[in-house]
Amino acid sequence: MREILVTSALPYANGYIHLGHLVEYIQTDIWVRAMKAQGHQVTYVCADDAHGTAIMLKAEANGVTPEEQIASVKASHEADFSKFLINFDNYHSTHSEENKQFSELIYRRLNDAGHISTKDVEQLFDPEKQLFLADRFVKGTCPECGALDQYGDNCEVCGTTYDATDLKDPYSTLSDATPILKTSKHYFFDLPEFEQFLKDWTRSDNRLQTSVANKLQEWFDAGLTSWDISRDAPYFGFQIPDTPSDEPDKYFYVWLDAPVGYMASFQNLCDKRKGTENELDFDRYWMQENEHKTEVYHFIGKDIVYFHALFWPAMLAGSELRTPTGVFAHGFLMVNGEKMSKSRGTFIKAETYADHLHPEYLRYYFASKLSDKVEDINLDLEDFMQKVNSDLVGKVVNIASRSAGFLVKKYDGMLSEVCVESDLLEDITKTGDEIAAAYENREFSRAMRLIMQCADKANEYIDEKKPWALAKVEGAEQEVQDVCSVAINIFRQLMVYLAPVLPELTANAKAFLNIDDLSFASRNQWLLGHKINKFKPLMQRIEEKDVAAMVEASKESLAQTATPVANADNTSAKKNTPSAKEANTGSDNEQADYIGIEDFAKVEMKVAHVLACNHVEGADKLLQFTLDVGEDKPRNVFSGIRKFYEPEQLLNKKVICVTNLAPRKMKFGISEGMVLSTGNPKTGLTVVTLPDDCVIGDVLA
Ligand code: 2FM
Ligand code: ZN
Repeated sequence: MREILVTSALPYANGYIHLGHLVEYIQTDIWVRAMKAQGHQVTYVCADDAHGTAIMLKAEANGVTPEEQIASVKASHEADFSKFLINFDNYHSTHSEENKQFSELIYRRLNDAGHISTKDVEQLFDPEKQLFLADRFVKGTCPECGALDQYGDNCEVCGTTYDATDLKDPYSTLSDATPILKTSKHYFFDLPEFEQFLKDWTRSDNRLQTSVANKLQEWFDAGLTSWDISRDAPYFGFQIPDTPSDEPDKYFYVWLDAPVGYMASFQNLCDKRKGTENELDFDRYWMQENEHKTEVYHFIGKDIVYFHALFWPAMLAGSELRTPTGVFAHGFLMVNGEKMSKSRGTFIKAETYADHLHPEYLRYYFASKLSDKVEDINLDLEDFMQKVNSDLVGKVVNIASRSAGFLVKKYDGMLSEVCVESDLLEDITKTGDEIAAAYENREFSRAMRLIMQCADKANEYIDEKKPWALAKVEGAEQEVQDVCSVAINIFRQLMVYLAPVLPELTANAKAFLNIDDLSFASRNQWLLGHKINKFKPLMQRIEEKDVAAMVEASKESLAQTATPVANADNTSAKKNTPSAKEANTGSDNEQADYIGIEDFAKVEMKVAHVLACNHVEGADKLLQFTLDVGEDKPRNVFSGIRKFYEPEQLLNKKVICVTNLAPRKMKFGISEGMVLSTGNPKTGLTVVTLPDDCVIGDVLA
């Protein structure tokens, strides 16, 4: 039996959990459940990441203390995780006694070993709020292109990265005051000293995915720099110990004590379990001498690789603690092929999702998309409905609903004493080995494919044997029982295979099947001469209206919810790391999807007169427009609104045409613009029409 400790990244205590976060928690939870089902002793811990300026300011904005702020966010995070069946063994906080102790211990050991140095740093300071400004809290004019209102780390118009001190006409976003330059002493962790250790560590023992190891090589090539681990007061965090008493207090930068939170949460669990039969030994997992006795894995998003694959192992090695066995990075979540968007209603809170749809739908869909690669995954809402309905309801649950009725009604729920299709059942039992390996290797999409292939085999078997027809044939009673028993046995195997992904559905199936075990090993015991219970539907189809309502509610709920303060501290640290520049998609995808005025100004929209509007033969979604936009020649434009309009409804109308969109070659001709509509293709599109007296060709501004 392997002893394994698993973590997911700690969510910040200043915002809600959304579907982007859930990719990681669902991925980790499935892995943990699959490894437990394979008989290993697995412990899964997490915590809220509770420190930093952003949380301090959020509390201030909410008129509460930081402690009150983090307590209420923690409760909401735990409620969300529980809805999505994320089964942590412990959920703690980085603002805890254990974390303070370990952070101080690590710092002291690093300091004693000469890995900490100090340096004066000049930074922008808000004279009104009396605090140093992280880059996210400074705006000004881009030094490169002159764009107004750019953040202190990079320009969203021209893409240049710079120091906040380079901005022209800077102002504090907290008070509007003009920042002043101020110098203070900072504490640095000497990362370059660990270069050789890190080069070896990142390339050995399959600790990292190949693409991650390659990315790290680029960072090594660019050269490692010392890491600023201190922040000045006021700061919500732990004070750095042993600093000179005649100097201002210094605090650990949030990213110093955040990963230590993994250890703290585990220690907290060890304390809770002390004296019970599940007792855990902290030292066995974290002391250097035990490194090969136990395994520690961190699941993270691709944007925080730098922290987990460089800073964290260096901190651990430098303080003579064990380093992780593996760090597994995943990509970000896209919705309908695009970055999650508040305006489109695709920036969906976990809570909003759960108000409308069953969390296990999402768990299955994510599982069907996730692999061991660091690739973004796409939640296409149409495909989501189709896949869940067809795979889970149409294929898997259907096997039980097609066969249980006969057994319960005619045979008092008794399954046959022998299996009449042992080759088939053998085959499906054997596929379990491949499925188990796919889970362990985080190839969940492969596992789901294999499981659905088994479900297909069961349905083909039932289709071929037709128990509903056999039931009417006199003398075929035994055959009906045998066929249905085979089907129920395959269904049981599928429940074993799907249990890590669908813990609730499979727990209900366990009651129906009258069994008490869904471990991987249990599949070898076929159900013969066994009595099952009455079948109750295990999953409903996803209704399109529920998905539409969730999208709609996401627009509303986000309009009503104050936007969480972006994690200010994060930004300046990430700016100094290549990871941020190259993978700066935001660990939690929480940047507002703004574009600069310059980007908006690039779009040319003109008043257009609809000269003709027709159906397009062979295209059931398109209407073809001939538009007068005040140019020499009319334009040909295709628009995907056929479902919502008869062509004559739009004839002679004044509409808005985007005229500088690059022409698009389509199967039916070239589209030379875009007609603007409101709504979306799922819930309905309404073409924006203008008053008749608008002048053709006029530019909208
Ligand atoms: O990026 C984030 O959301 C961080 N709160 C993750 C911290 S993970 C760990 F290091 F604590
Ligand atoms: Zn610029």
